[in-house]
Amino acid sequence: MTDGQERAWSDLAPRYVLEAPRDEAATSVRPGAAVTLREVWGRDAPLIVEIGSGQGHAMIHAATARPETNFLAVEVFTAGLARTMLGAERAGLENLRLVEANAPEVLEHLLPPASIDELWVFFPDPWHKNKHTKRRLLTPEFATIAAQAVRDGGVLRLATDWEQYARQMREVLDAAPEFARSFQGPWAERFEGRVLTAFERKGARAGRAIRDLTYERRDRG
Ligand SMILES: C[S@@+](CC[C@H](N)C(=O)[O-])C[C@H]1O[C@@H](n2cnc3c(N)ncnc32)[C@H](O)[C@@H]1O
Repeated sequence: MTDGQERAWSDLAPRYVLEAPRDEAATSVRPGAAVTLREVWGRDAPLIVEIGSGQGHAMIHAATARPETNFLAVEVFTAGLARTMLGAERAGLENLRLVEANAPEVLEHLLPPASIDELWVFFPDPWHKNKHTKRRLLTPEFATIAAQAVRDGGVLRLATDWEQYARQMREVLDAAPEFARSFQGPWAERFEGRVLTAFERKGARAGRAIRDLTYERRDRG
């Protein structure tokens, strides 16, 4: 990390970072470690969570535009989290928190069940080589964990520039009994709340189509 990013961690982490009780791995979350949202944000408000928030552009933009909503950025990339904190400080944000942890464990152990209003996964690592596709985040197991964390009627938004991964996401979520498509036709409209990041720009420049997907969490009944 640069000096500025080191400073972000020492000076800004107390304000922005939600500390996760760890299991064995450094970015793990200990089972049974669920937080109380009101204690973390100091208020009750809708919650939007982004998995793999990178440098935090989408979160900072959205948290600035929607001060009445709570936001949580989930990332394992320390320098990206530092940049997110610097951006949050510049924007004077009070409604954004960050957690440095493996996203599925955050959904499963750190957040209470049915606590998320919207879950965003934008340009997850594509792992496009055949021998690596099993490392992808969007699996049936992930769908089950996400379904546990998202409230009834809550929304799951995804975007990727890798056609084959987009198809995998759609196949997995179409098959998940907890989720229903919120779009007509093969793909969703581009989510207007999604800012253009370097990953999207790079994909578009390489001639790849950008695919959005939107699903609604069905009622638990
Ligand atoms: C391709 S980048 C996209 C970043 C951002 N969404 C954007 O569009 O600019 C994917 C990000 O997901 C993060 N990531 C990958 N696996 C993760 C995991 N298991 N938990 C949390 N973050 C993860 C990576 O560190 C990386 O920053």
